[in-house]
Amino acid sequence: MTQALGVYVHWPYCARICPYCDFNVFRDRGRREEQLALKAAIMSDLETQAGMIGDRELVSIFLGGGTPSLMDPDWAGEIIATARRLWRPAPDLEISLEANPTDAESERFAAFAAAGVTRLSLGVQALDDGALKFLGRDHDAASARRAAEVAARAFPRLSIDLIYARPDQTAQAWGDELRQAMDWGAEHISPYQLTIEAGTAFDRAVQRGRLVPPSEDLAADLFETTQSVLEGAGFHAYEVSNHARGDAARSRHNLVYWRGEDYVGVGPGAHGRLTLKGERHATLAASRPADYIARVAETGRGFVSDQALSPLEAAEERLLLGLRIEAGVAYGEVAALGLSPDHAEVRHLVDLGLLVADPLRLRASPAGRLVLNALTERLALAR
Ligand SMILES: C[S@@+](CC[C@H](N)C(=O)[O-])C[C@H]1O[C@@H](n2cnc3c(N)ncnc32)[C@H](O)[C@@H]1O
Ligand code: SF4
Repeated sequence: MTQALGVYVHWPYCARICPYCDFNVFRDRGRREEQLALKAAIMSDLETQAGMIGDRELVSIFLGGGTPSLMDPDWAGEIIATARRLWRPAPDLEISLEANPTDAESERFAAFAAAGVTRLSLGVQALDDGALKFLGRDHDAASARRAAEVAARAFPRLSIDLIYARPDQTAQAWGDELRQAMDWGAEHISPYQLTIEAGTAFDRAVQRGRLVPPSEDLAADLFETTQSVLEGAGFHAYEVSNHARGDAARSRHNLVYWRGEDYVGVGPGAHGRLTLKGERHATLAASRPADYIARVAETGRGFVSDQALSPLEAAEERLLLGLRIEAGVAYGEVAALGLSPDHAEVRHLVDLGLLVADPLRLRASPAGRLVLNALTERLALAR
């Protein structure tokens, strides 16, 4: 069976930079020449990497960012056509696009659908205008709702991103927000807990005492509310922050990451994971658009690093990602860690209720998924 492959395309421009975001983003200053050059570099990078990788079944293309919905839909179509030509498209190939829910962007959804996009991931973030202002967003709840309605008609699949654990948010208000969002036609919801990332405007505000994030107890209550409201309505948590109504609605792109499958990363700052001659490689592209374009012109690829992971490093990463999903990871896939169902540490973690007893797979329980980093560390150190 041909190995599965995902393609991640990073489009780094945003209309404005949100105060909580630490993704590799750049303000869109309408420099069409640079953006055209970036699109061409992304397609050359795909060509070069296809030469290294060879025949694979293309299961997902993900146009992420930044804000790829600001891209010319024809360019998205060209990038999609390039990837489809270079590898063998799976019959159920998923092609996702991240979008911000402004009216200007929703007017272009039909063009993105015509360019081949099958799944829209809409950054709604909040359904409350005060919260949207706090988050520095350039849309209100009404335009987000309009965007969701247009998207639900234009694309076979719709996912909504939300951010919770905002200051002063109550469990009651958050529950109401989630119940409203479920009526917007999405079959996939990703509620992310607000993280204060180093170097962001929110981080500076916290340090100056101007922003006080919710206590751990309140954050845990809000997480509980998320689980009970979404699970109660059939949006099953197949991963820590990802809920889908039915198996078919699960994100194929995310499953590529969590199952440890290979993915090509193109565009500024994109990461990739490729198995080449039996060795797992971690690739990283240059962060700044101009550097990425120059790098592709010089070497054919955007990489600033291409590192072969040791079997132990690959197994540790596999464990960390695999435990995020309820299916977990097969013992055979993390053999370098020397773990088995009879291992003392595994038995101990099962007794604590953090792992599920399973003779074939390491699987975190819902409680274990709440403390994933600590759990992974204990397992990795248990050798
Ligand atoms: C690449 S970003 C966003 C795509 C799109 N530009 C947008 O803003 O809607 C993907 C998602 O990560 C989430 N996110 C980004 N920074 C976050 C943070 N500091 N805490 C929690 N969620 C965050 C947001 O929900 C966002 O929609
Ligand atoms: S959250 Fe989205 S729009 Fe805001 S800066 Fe990050 S990528 Fe750009």
